[in-house]
Amino acid sequence: MKTIDETNKELIEKAREAYNNAYAPYSGYKVGAAVRWLSGKITFGCNVENASFSLSVCAERNAVFRGIAEGEREIESIAIAVPVEQMPSPCGSCRQVLREFAKDCTVILVNGQGKTVLSSLDELLPHSFGPEFINVQNI
Ligand code: THU
Repeated sequence: MKTIDETNKELIEKAREAYNNAYAPYSGYKVGAAVRWLSGKITFGCNVENASFSLSVCAERNAVFRGIAEGEREIESIAIAVPVEQMPSPCGSCRQVLREFAKDCTVILVNGQGKTVLSSLDELLPHSFGPEFINVQNI
């Protein structure tokens, strides 16, 4: 059995590895994300930009969508890492995508120096709207 600290360390490491594969030639801003699902599985992703700028996709959404494709439905926590000093922060769209698969979850922000800030989805997206408002269960 892993301790919470070991669990978080593993998630943080995966998020930090993930930004190495970021495709961010336009912004130069690399992001990595790793999601831990309720099953214990971890999926990760990086941001992928496009010459048609609006088609760029954030690291967080790529990490979430990979988990969904693998059959996961409930997020337990997410680590978001960047190689720069300024702490990352998930964009509004990604917060709402997280909310689809978690009423609340742990959000760990990690900068290039390895500094971590612990937050939660409820803190980042208070009074949120989710699938239960329209009587949809996560299936
Ligand atoms: N980006 C992410 O991948 N995650 C965030 O939390 C914020 C923004 C990406 C999108 C784009 O590729 C680049 O960072 C600059 O906005």
